[in-house]
Amino acid sequence: MTKRIFSGIKPTGHMTLGNYLGALRRWVEVDQHQSDALFSVVDLHALTVDHDPGRVRRLSRQAATLMLAAGLDPERCTVFVQSHVAEHARLSYLLECTATDGELRRMIQYKEKGARARAAGESVRLSLLTYPVLMAADILAYGTDEVPVGEDQTQHVELSRDLAVRFNQRYGHTFTVPRATHPSVAARVMDLQDPLSKMGKSHASTAGIVYLLDDADTVHKKIMRAVTDSGREVTYDREQSPGIANLLEILAACSEGNPKDLAGVYESYGSLKRDAADAVVELLRPVRERHAELAADGGHVDEVLKRGAERARGMARPRVDAAHVAMGLLPG
Ligand code: AMP
Ligand code: TRP
Repeated sequence: MTKRIFSGIKPTGHMTLGNYLGALRRWVEVDQHQSDALFSVVDLHALTVDHDPGRVRRLSRQAATLMLAAGLDPERCTVFVQSHVAEHARLSYLLECTATDGELRRMIQYKEKGARARAAGESVRLSLLTYPVLMAADILAYGTDEVPVGEDQTQHVELSRDLAVRFNQRYGHTFTVPRATHPSVAARVMDLQDPLSKMGKSHASTAGIVYLLDDADTVHKKIMRAVTDSGREVTYDREQSPGIANLLEILAACSEGNPKDLAGVYESYGSLKRDAADAVVELLRPVRERHAELAADGGHVDEVLKRGAERARGMARPRVDAAHVAMGLLPG
């Protein structure tokens, strides 16, 4: 049987170099060729934090356009918007009845984002707590074997595994137990201004974030201004020189090299930055160009999403129906 792959991206901000190197590029270059793959703009997840409806709508279309611009081929894989397939929310409720509140309160992302919101005097949406269950539903609905993601998602995929195993034990075999896969380098691209934090698309300060749609000049500036430590020698050491390690990883990911070997090539921080900036600009150039073409023809993207949703629905429905009945609900 062919391997089933599922992954998703949240429309909470403009897509970043972290999204591209940690996830999207591998979906394009490897996953869509090796498996029966689904890639989703997981828009329901964008509603777990304070949001502006118009912005979510715009970012959803932009994310889908960028996924196609990066090279996902709708003839090879299924590209769709999560909320167009009702099975996700249906299964999420069934899985909420399989999960415990304790295991969700332990999720690092919930603890961090929740604490940040409370510190700012904001309330925390209940969906921020239950979000990993919806993510498990995204994955389990399709009988997914592999989930290609950046390292920040490991704990969430673990929860999906736990829920699949528990559900199968209680109600009979229904779900495949999935596993996370990560790229060999740049599984965690760090913020250029704060190399101890992940380059995240919804961060308030954007100086350390390279967006896929930034123009060449902006990319250059951001990388040349990346924060480094006060040393001079270029060494690959995430603990001692996290800023330099991040640049080496970015360059390695762009040039199919290895960060340790690259460290030996550079005599100064400046030349490393220059080469990293050039490499990122060249890497993103075709994506930006294709994005501009596709964005000019919104009808095409909408059509791809419509067909994708139909296909995804057909794949998810039988398994979600089976889970519904296995839990004791009368068949509809
Ligand atoms: P998100 O932006 O949270 O929807 O993430 C979409 C995908 O990009 C997930 O697979 C993440 O793990 C991955 N990703 C997001 N930010 C980074 C980063 N800074 N480094 C590596 N992967 C990332
Ligand atoms: N939680 C993921 C993130 O923040 C996005 C996501 C939602 C996802 N559902 C998914 C990723 C299913 C992989 C599979 O990046």
